[in-house]
Amino acid sequence: MRELIRRLSETHSLSVDEYESLITGRDEESARLLRTLAVKVRREIYGNSVYVRGLIEVSNICRNDCYYCGIRRSNGNVERYRLSHDEILACADEGYGLGFRTFVLQGGEDSYFSDEVLGGIVRDIKAIHPDCAVTLSMGERSYDSYKFLRSCGADRYLLRHETADREHYSRLHPAAMSWENRMNCLRKLRELGYQVGCGFMVGSPYQTARNIAEDLKFVETFRPEMCGIGPFIPHKDTPFRDFPAGTVELTCYLLSVIRLIHPAVLLPATTALGTVDPVGREKGIMAGANVVMPNLSPVNVRKKYELYDNKICTGEESAQCRECLSNRMRRIGYEIVADRGDFKKAV
Ligand code: SAM
Ligand code: FES
Repeated sequence: MRELIRRLSETHSLSVDEYESLITGRDEESARLLRTLAVKVRREIYGNSVYVRGLIEVSNICRNDCYYCGIRRSNGNVERYRLSHDEILACADEGYGLGFRTFVLQGGEDSYFSDEVLGGIVRDIKAIHPDCAVTLSMGERSYDSYKFLRSCGADRYLLRHETADREHYSRLHPAAMSWENRMNCLRKLRELGYQVGCGFMVGSPYQTARNIAEDLKFVETFRPEMCGIGPFIPHKDTPFRDFPAGTVELTCYLLSVIRLIHPAVLLPATTALGTVDPVGREKGIMAGANVVMPNLSPVNVRKKYELYDNKICTGEESAQCRECLSNRMRRIGYEIVADRGDFKKAV
């Protein structure tokens, strides 16, 4: 294990078999070594800065039916909502006042957000706050749509690949959704000049160590600017209600591995990590993550954007959430910084 970890930290690459061994053979000692190396390399690039992204959950209406997701189309128990253009702009204004310089617009695949509507929102946020980055996380769209949104000023796009294994993908999604399309979307986004984020859930149903090893190889070869990983958490109204949640231990272990694969990657300590453990986000940062995403959505919609059970940060005002995360980071020796927090290209 020591030799594998040393080689990973020097060459940033292992074979799929080796990644699998790193997962199946892990123990407290390998976790500690990975964590130490991951924190060291992150410190060299980003110091003790943690970037914040203001998350605006624009809609919980979705045409898709992913088996793991609480806002899937078939869930009749969800009270559906979408935010208007003006509500989204108001969230961004409030966030700007709180020091946010990146806004993430995330939502289900809601046809209301046509190119015209979404493009108008992006254009207006960029016009009012030209010093801010806009990240979209609105699912699979066409090349022309991604192109248009980019021309409206969108800088980044988050689209988790979910799993690098086609067969595993088909066990997480209905037949109408395709792994090929997901992967093609990521390539289109890259080609259009977005800073791109891929990612996956840790401990998703039927996931094997081999699957995760393939995910790591995908991260190594695709070289995303961002990578979102968090534990799978069951939602009571989905087909996966009885599956266990992913663990903090494995998620943090993988955060360290990903930091070593791709030292400059922007790596969030996710809300899901904070949901499975009250200090999960702190553990994520101490394992090598360098981004947190406080919630900027209006408080009255937060509970409705419930991707999984017991999601945290649904009762707090945006200012409280921002303040809470600043304090949490400060307590472990990190500072939240108010800038766009771009990927460090030189590294
Ligand atoms: N519709 C967009 C998309 O599919 O990319 C963005 C919204 S989607 C809800 C954002 C991410 O939430 C998904 O990529 C998935 O990995 C994560 N997610 C959904 N359900 C989850 C669950 N039960 N536990 C943990 N993460 C979940
Ligand atoms: Fe949202 Fe603590 S991060 S309340």
